[in-house]
Amino acid sequence: MANVLDSLDSVLLMGPGPSSVNPKVYQALSRPTIGHMDAQFTALMDELKLSLRKLMFTNNEATITLSGTGSSGMEAVMCNLVEEGDQMLMITNGYFAERMVDVAGRLGAQVDTLEFPWRSPIDVDQAAAKIKGGSYKLVGMVHGETSTGVINPIEKIGPLVAQKGGLFIVDAVTSLGGNELRMDDWAIDALYSCSQKCIGCPSGLSPVSFSPRAMEKILGRKKKVPNFYLDMTLLMKYWDGSPRAYHHTAPANMYYGLYEALSLIHEEGIEKVKARHIATHEHLAAGLQGLGLSLLVEKGHRLPNLSTVMIPEGVVDLDVRKELRGTYKIEIGAGLGVLAGKIWRIGTMGHTAQKEHVDKLLGALKDILGK
Ligand SMILES: Cc1ncc(COP(=O)(O)O)c(C=O)c1O
Repeated sequence: MANVLDSLDSVLLMGPGPSSVNPKVYQALSRPTIGHMDAQFTALMDELKLSLRKLMFTNNEATITLSGTGSSGMEAVMCNLVEEGDQMLMITNGYFAERMVDVAGRLGAQVDTLEFPWRSPIDVDQAAAKIKGGSYKLVGMVHGETSTGVINPIEKIGPLVAQKGGLFIVDAVTSLGGNELRMDDWAIDALYSCSQKCIGCPSGLSPVSFSPRAMEKILGRKKKVPNFYLDMTLLMKYWDGSPRAYHHTAPANMYYGLYEALSLIHEEGIEKVKARHIATHEHLAAGLQGLGLSLLVEKGHRLPNLSTVMIPEGVVDLDVRKELRGTYKIEIGAGLGVLAGKIWRIGTMGHTAQKEHVDKLLGALKDILGK
């Protein structure tokens, strides 16, 4: 019988994630599996914690990776921090912020939303007025909104939330590793991300971090965290306990991959990695405009690792994406929610963020669109 794996294409991943994986990360993933309580493995977990703290610019002890995709990070932050009846403000301008509203509501938060259009950043003055006028225990936002390609000015919001004694929650699934993000300086109390975008590992892990104030709220809960698998009090006994307490069978090889991907970022230098993402994005934006295509988001508010392009009149979304994938072995993403069929989402994240990859895509689009 033919092995299906033998027929898998090698695809240049230029969608909203996963991004292409550095061969060194693949090598790391194939190292021998060891036990999740083995001393060599727990030593690797210690290194992972330090490496993540460095990437997030935080001193938070409670900085670990969850064994689940970015969505597990969203669920974890909410199920640990939300207690039935908590007043929460969600500042939204896209699909993933709306998903945060849904997740928080399912856990019994009283969610108030401040909504902005799906192509512009949030308005800081309006957000400030709402935060000052309320008494929210939690305020949540998405940093890099993957559904629209907008980067939100979260650095201006955290201090306002802190002044009122609330906790600031940030979705950094698309932004971490490719953008300026300083958890402690920006007064972020809980942050979650993923392995498969700017970090450049396959999907399956969700780095998270909780500030001491956030951990205080979790430890002071009236009722247990309503989810065993994502309970930070239990997870910290595995990551930090002495002795460590078994919680789940951590996927060792995925942790190797994350470790290697983070090491590659630190070897290159966070500032240089950020600059590479910006330069690649600018190269892409100029090239797309050269093909007569326009971007959804105004310059100045664009997420430098995910560009959203308007699909020209008369062009069939799926036909183009199918041809890119079939003939050119390139994946780009479709629009989500109200933007489905209207935009393409082009990711230049992690190992994908290189000008030669952009040139390959631009050449293919030129052929397909007959420009
Ligand atoms: C901003 C944002 N939040 C959350 C998620 C969910 O992450 P995952 O698909 O890894 O579960 C995504 C996925 O693309 C995302 O872009």
